[in-house]
Amino acid sequence: MGKTIIVSNRLPVKITEADGKFDILSSEGGLATGLGSVYQSGNNLWLGWPGIEVNGEHDQNQIKQQLTEANLVPVFLTADEISGYYEGFSNGILWPIFHYYASTYANYKQADWECYKHVNKKFLTALLEITEPEDTIWIHDYQLLLLPGLLRSVKPDATIGFFLHIPFPSFEMFRLIPWRSELIEGILGADLVGFHTFDDASHFITAATRLLPVNTTSNVVTVDDRPVVVESFPMGIDDAKYAALTRSDDVLKEVTHLKDTFKKRQLMLCIDRLDYSKGILQRLQAFELLLETYPEYIEKVVLHMIVVPSRDSVPQYRELKENIDRKVGDINARYRTIDWSPVNYFYRPFPLETLSALYHTADICLVTPMRDGMNLVSKEYVASRTQDTGVLILSEMAGASKELIDAIIVSPSNINSMMEAMVTGLTMPADEQKRRMRLMRQVVSKFNISHWVRIFMERMKEVKQMQQAMH
Ligand code: G6P
Repeated sequence: MGKTIIVSNRLPVKITEADGKFDILSSEGGLATGLGSVYQSGNNLWLGWPGIEVNGEHDQNQIKQQLTEANLVPVFLTADEISGYYEGFSNGILWPIFHYYASTYANYKQADWECYKHVNKKFLTALLEITEPEDTIWIHDYQLLLLPGLLRSVKPDATIGFFLHIPFPSFEMFRLIPWRSELIEGILGADLVGFHTFDDASHFITAATRLLPVNTTSNVVTVDDRPVVVESFPMGIDDAKYAALTRSDDVLKEVTHLKDTFKKRQLMLCIDRLDYSKGILQRLQAFELLLETYPEYIEKVVLHMIVVPSRDSVPQYRELKENIDRKVGDINARYRTIDWSPVNYFYRPFPLETLSALYHTADICLVTPMRDGMNLVSKEYVASRTQDTGVLILSEMAGASKELIDAIIVSPSNINSMMEAMVTGLTMPADEQKRRMRLMRQVVSKFNISHWVRIFMERMKEVKQMQQAMH
């Protein structure tokens, strides 16, 4: 049996530079944690971009060496590649279209497409240097849609899995992309194609059937006699890690501090990457409407809002940041009192211990994206509620809403109903909170991240065996 190679745009590390030396910290992201057990064992590997621009052979070699010790292999990108492939095509075209932001945000530049193809080929070259015949290759996300097809064309017998972490849009949206057929052909290079939800999988099958001369039966798309299985694999989290964190000394100290600070005020929490798909402005509008409609909540409730900086070199993200700043400023200026601010707004990342303390303390967690592949924040909140109370307000547009059906489910564009959901949450009796939270905790624990990795890898093996049996 060969090794497993994970491929994603970003390696699961954060690299910082000081005085010509590089410091490599492993990332705490969901995928990094989940796949840790895979790439860190045996001679398995993870291939991806180290996340910073590194010029010069000397520095690149230094990083390469440091990463090798952690089973990681870097693909270095130039400033032009970062601009065309990452900012331009991946985050300026694919991200908005896949999240249903067509006319306002997508800008179809031919040069960005050329760069996207070029960088996918660059990943192929790097992959071929480390791939051996028996290996299993698992490619992740929208930045590398062409890679499965590129790999298949040079390694017809390879075992290739592909997983999309963001939504796959309906055909009427997807068809707007000028290079739609090439993208589908790229994905169909895989043996197994995974999505978070059934809807995403069926949107993909529809797009493949409409655009290419393929045969489709149920969840199998046959390309030149090669069956490709398309299925949903809802991603989970390491629930035990989040539960254990709430019992650690550092977190307990922060919990005490938070309780002292907020005293009898109810705490509503939201944690998002800065992204227009997360519905941050709409949520602020709903909170403003709450204070306007129910003035009895003035000084009684705090919206603790953590926004983690992201993709700030993409123009739409900079603009959104300005709009959020202005909206928070307006709400605070209008409602604050001498010893209370309605919105506690932070624009920076926080250590996991702080997030854990907040999850454990917050009376309500608001997860209200306009669109989201899965949304792991909702699951992290649930896993951190070891006391079984707490209310999750969850958008029907997040993949997680298909599993966490005991949350208060809202439509994120219905500001009034989001505001009413806040009232329902703020007044929900403890018994009802516990009933719902226990059910959600069971789901998060049963379908956790190791389950997700295991069933995807097992299914990949089965698909390969099925293909071999056919020949
Ligand atoms: C989403 C995507 C990931 C991406 C992450 C952070 O979760 O699905 O592929 O890595 O956002 O975005 P960034 O552009 O910073 O990698």
